[in-house]
Amino acid sequence: MGQNLWSGGAVVIGAGYVGLTLSAFLASKGVRTTCVEKDHARAERIRRGEAPIHEEGLQELLRRVVDEGTLNVRAEMGGVLENSHIVFITVGTPTGSDYIPDLSQVQEASRQIGEALKSSSGQNPLIVVKSTVPPGTTWNVVRPIIEAASGRVCGEGFHLCSNPEFLREGSALHDTMNPDRIVIGAKSLEAAEALKSFYDHLYTPRKIATLITTPTNAELIKLATNTYLALKISFINLISNICESLNDADVGAVAEGLGLDPRIGPQFLRAGLGFGGSCLPKDTRAMRGLAASLGVDTSLIDSILEINKAQRTRVVERLSTMLGGLAGRMVAVLGLSFKPGTDDVRESPSIEMVRELLSRGAEVRVHDPKALNNAKQVLESGVTYCKSVEECLMGVDAAIIATEWPEYSALNPQTARSLMRNPLIIDGRRILDHEQWASAGVKVYKIGLRGPDG
Ligand SMILES: NC(=O)c1ccc[n+]([C@@H]2O[C@H](COP(=O)([O-])OP(=O)(O)OC[C@H]3O[C@@H](n4cnc5c(N)ncnc54)[C@H](O)[C@@H]3O)[C@@H](O)[C@H]2O)c1
Repeated sequence: MGQNLWSGGAVVIGAGYVGLTLSAFLASKGVRTTCVEKDHARAERIRRGEAPIHEEGLQELLRRVVDEGTLNVRAEMGGVLENSHIVFITVGTPTGSDYIPDLSQVQEASRQIGEALKSSSGQNPLIVVKSTVPPGTTWNVVRPIIEAASGRVCGEGFHLCSNPEFLREGSALHDTMNPDRIVIGAKSLEAAEALKSFYDHLYTPRKIATLITTPTNAELIKLATNTYLALKISFINLISNICESLNDADVGAVAEGLGLDPRIGPQFLRAGLGFGGSCLPKDTRAMRGLAASLGVDTSLIDSILEINKAQRTRVVERLSTMLGGLAGRMVAVLGLSFKPGTDDVRESPSIEMVRELLSRGAEVRVHDPKALNNAKQVLESGVTYCKSVEECLMGVDAAIIATEWPEYSALNPQTARSLMRNPLIIDGRRILDHEQWASAGVKVYKIGLRGPDG
């Protein structure tokens, strides 16, 4: 490829959870990084060194690299490629129709890269698709758009790799700094090796396991990973529902035993309200859409999604039975983000549960240490937003623990009991010691365990 990627600047298009974290990390390693974010207000906040998302350690790192001037932020691409050797596409790929991802952001970013390349006198950059896209997208969608807009040919005027991202929200910066593997998909070994040596340099002295394969395989690896993780969660939720109908069964113990089998492993075997967030539901649906479009049987994937959806309604149904109906009842929902450590409420089980409670006539009070503002943007009116857990529990007929934030596991049963009108807690994340709570006079229905009502 003629140039050492490490010696030039980097461009990251899209400053979301993936792009902003990557930008801050690259800049902290001394790579002159330009982050392009089309949302002007968001770009402005980042330019001031303010992280628009909550991820541990991101705010401090961002402020440092902005102050040091290694990270620049812009709202447009123009001229940005002049001194940059590597360009990462990290824009969103939400679900579109028929479960197929909406690629409009990827298409727009590709067009902008092509146009910038056309007027650029700089070297031929490597374009890296980090967004999660269906197999074939990098080569059959991104490449032709860049070629058409730039008048250059892939392999000569620019280079192209697929390089899916595996970070987890809630530990995005940690995962970006410490990936467990790197998957590179390229048609040209030269392009793949150039990206590999960029990462070798970035992570030195650590050696990260790296797989070089075709773009289609790389893209499929990402979708298959998330579909498999979703499968594990729906599987343990199925077992959890079985446990609830048995005397003396507890899904926690069953999961522990399962996880001891090295062929299975302990991760992603926590029963609860199901998976949410911006990736697992979307990528499982993308896999479903892909299978359907190829005429491959989708029943396994359909079951993963159905079990996941039913898990939230099941809890609300159970609460309704316990309270003799929900109309006029006051319910506290503790936790709105789809997992702790993040302020992301996209496809959060909690948000769906709040809607279900409202539709059944309940009065809903909510709390979250980080996600209240994001929840306000998506929830309908009629919800009371509380600044503290205590305020949220005041006078309620029941509380649902929807996100396993540490402050909820640290709740004191006596305090909770003194605040609630009716001491009943649905432990949707299995974080309370139900026996200790029962001795303090609070009924706890813990998912995966026969409830106090039998
Ligand atoms: N969030 C995760 O945990 C995660 C993990 C792995 C992979 N991914 C994948 O990475 C991609 C990005 O995810 P995210 O959660 O960071 O997305 P996001 O929606 O949080 O952020 C995307 C950002 O890109 C910006 N953008 C869109 N088009 C643009 C353009 N043409 N120019 C400049 N900015 C543009 C948007 O304004 C937005 O701020 C998705 O494909 C996702 O599936 C996400």
